[in-house]
Amino acid sequence: MKSTRVALVAASSQGLGYAVAEALARRGMTLGLTARTPERLEQAAQRLRTQYSVEVWAHPFDLDTPEGAEGFVRAALKDLGRVDVLVTNNGGPPPGTFDALTDEDWTRAFQRTLMSAVRMMRAVLPFMKSAGYGRIVHITSVSVREPIPGLLLSGVFRAGIVNLTRAVAREVAADGITVNVVAPGYMNTERLQEVLPDEAARGQILQEIPAKRIADPKELGAVVAFLASEEAAYLTGAVIPVDGGLFRGIW
Ligand SMILES: NC(=O)c1ccc[n+]([C@@H]2O[C@H](COP(=O)([O-])OP(=O)(O)OC[C@H]3O[C@@H](n4cnc5c(N)ncnc54)[C@H](OP(=O)(O)O)[C@@H]3O)[C@@H](O)[C@H]2O)c1
Repeated sequence: MKSTRVALVAASSQGLGYAVAEALARRGMTLGLTARTPERLEQAAQRLRTQYSVEVWAHPFDLDTPEGAEGFVRAALKDLGRVDVLVTNNGGPPPGTFDALTDEDWTRAFQRTLMSAVRMMRAVLPFMKSAGYGRIVHITSVSVREPIPGLLLSGVFRAGIVNLTRAVAREVAADGITVNVVAPGYMNTERLQEVLPDEAARGQILQEIPAKRIADPKELGAVVAFLASEEAAYLTGAVIPVDGGLFRGIW
C-alpha cells in the first residue's frame, strides 16, 4: 500500500539506514536522510528519487553531536512540514574489550550510540504528540540481549536504548505514537568488514547463525517498514530480532 507519510532515517547514505530508507521509499513515503559525507548522501538520495519517484530531503549532519542530532530533526521538520516516522541509527562504536577501553572511548560511545537516539527522539516527539500520530524505530543490535565478545560499547549503550524505548513507549502510547527497537544480527554492509574483517571470523559466525547466512540489509528494511506502517498501531515497546535465529534466549 502506498503511503503519504514523511519518514526521517538517520545515518542513511549506505548500509542499514539506506536499506530502511529504500524500503520506505518503495512504500511511497517522503524521506528525510542524513549522514556526514555530503557527496555519498546526495548520491543515495538521487538514487532513491530516480528509482521510486519519491521526494527525498537530504542534508549532512554529524549525529554524534547535540547540534547534529537535534539539528537533523529540526531542519527536516521545518522544511518538510511534518514527520510521521523517525528511524534512529548511527555509525557503530569501535570494537574493544574492557581492558582496552578508555574513559574517552566510553564517553564518545555514549554520545554516538545512546545520546544521538535520545536527542532525535526528543526533537520529534512534540510534533508527533500534537499530530496524534508517530512511529519511532531504533536500530540497535543483537548485542542488546546477548553481549558480543569485543563489542562492549555497542552492547552497553544499545541496551540503554531498549530501556529508553520501553519507558517512552508507555509515556506516548495514548498519543498514537509507537516506539520499538529492531535488533539486527549480521548484515552485509561496510560496518561488517570492520566487525568481521577476515574469512576465518566470518566462517565462525556462520556456524553460529541457524540460518547459515549473513542477511541482506533489505531484510531489516522490510521489518522496519512494517513497524513504521499505520497497520502496526498496537505494537509498541518491543524488541524485534532480525538475526536468522542467532539469539538463543527465550524472550
Ligand atoms: N551491519 C551489521 O551487521 C550490523 C548489525 C547490528 C548493528 N549494526 C549497527 O547498525 C549501525 C549501521 O551499521 P551499517 O552496517 O549500516 O554501517 P555502515 O555501512 O558503515 O553505514 C553507516 C552509515 O552511517 C553514517 N554515519 C556514520 N557516522 C555518522 C555520524 N556521526 N553522523 C551521521 N551519520 C553517520 C555513514 O555515513 P558517513 O560516514 O558519511 O557519516 C553511513 O551512511 C551501526 O551502528 C552498526 O554498528 C550493524
